Amino acid sequence: MARVELRHVTKRFGPVEAVRDVDLRVEDGEFMVLVGPSGCGKSTLLRMIAGLEEASEGEIWIGDRLVNELPPKDRDVAMVFQNYALYPHMNVYENMAFGLRMRKVPRQQIDRRVREVAESLGLAELLQRRPRELSGGQRQRVALGRAIVREPQVFLMDEPLSNLDAQLRVQTRTELIRLHQRLGTTTIYVTHDQVEAMTMGNRIAVLHHGRVQQVATPVELYDHPANMFVAGFIGSPQMNFVRGRIERDEEGVRFRSSGLDVRLPARLAELPGLRHGREMVLGVRPEHVLTEPERVAALAGSAFQAVVEVIEPLGAESYLHLAAGDDRLTARTRPDLRYRVGEPLRAAVEPERVHLFDPDSQEALAPPVARAA
Ligand SMILES: Nc1ncnc2c1ncn2[C@@H]1O[C@H](COP(=O)(O)OP(=O)(O)OP(=O)(O)O)[C@@H](O)[C@H]1O
Ligand SMILES: [Mg+2]
Repeated sequence: MARVELRHVTKRFGPVEAVRDVDLRVEDGEFMVLVGPSGCGKSTLLRMIAGLEEASEGEIWIGDRLVNELPPKDRDVAMVFQNYALYPHMNVYENMAFGLRMRKVPRQQIDRRVREVAESLGLAELLQRRPRELSGGQRQRVALGRAIVREPQVFLMDEPLSNLDAQLRVQTRTELIRLHQRLGTTTIYVTHDQVEAMTMGNRIAVLHHGRVQQVATPVELYDHPANMFVAGFIGSPQMNFVRGRIERDEEGVRFRSSGLDVRLPARLAELPGLRHGREMVLGVRPEHVLTEPERVAALAGSAFQAVVEVIEPLGAESYLHLAAGDDRLTARTRPDLRYRVGEPLRAAVEPERVHLFDPDSQEALAPPVARAA
């Protein structure tokens, strides 16, 4: 096993800067998820670690080796591609065994590993089939299995579940988590799915426009996003963002917008730079927008008048889309509470769970718990 470290890594394709000055340290045995929207540089970053793409600048370390000049086969990494390719003329068994045969692993050992991995990925019945006789999801699992049997120092996985249907996706996700718990192999896993990122990663690195926005554990990322991009990307439904101003009076510090009037708790009110009149974005997650009358009554300092615009019942919970003045907020509520569209109601935000962002820099005002790698 090995630690992976990127130091000031940049990748340019002509004028396009796909990856910009990335510093990232993945600990030995860690499951690190790279997450971000399409085109943010995830695959490029992974391909540079694998050696399939040369870094324009910076250093890439695997274990205690600087690998920039090392060809892919000498890096002891196994990569599962976003667009994987299986050998069409080989059956599933041979596809999975191929890498081991090339490295002259004894026959019996190959057989044991292939059957074990095939079993854990639900491929045991398909070992004699050719790739063209498989569904897309089955092929994807063969590509995964082929990487897993190699027992490399590092797994690099680029959206390996993207071709699976929803149910199989969740199932294979659990299988990969179990596998990581058992093997403890350092893994860098790329996805654009924030649920996958949250459930799989020991830590998550959020990328945007080729830059690392924040590296943190799932809970840190959720509770202490470093900026509006991370705050909006992690969490569903999205965090509510409301634009307004800071007001100071003898009683303390408030956030005022068209629809909200929130007395800020000491934790936030004491932050430097909250001068009277300063423009601000308030962020609050849907579960911290309350509509239950008893709870709203207890939060007089942050209650507001709203109208229900849309109701989305999901069974275990409901989302209420609220209009408050010109502001729009989503609230996550208990499904047994009955609301009607057009109905006015009193709602409140939990002031202790509010985030403040600078509207220009989009950075969070509270210092996040963990920023860097
Ligand atoms: N070979 C290349 N030549 C030129 N530009 C490239 C090349 N490969 C990638 N890019 C550009 O680099 C940027 C990052 O691409 P990359 O494939 O790393 O994104 P990604 O985060 O993996 O996106 P997706 O989620 O869609 O797979 C994009 O703007 C892309 O167009
Ligand atoms: Mg990609």
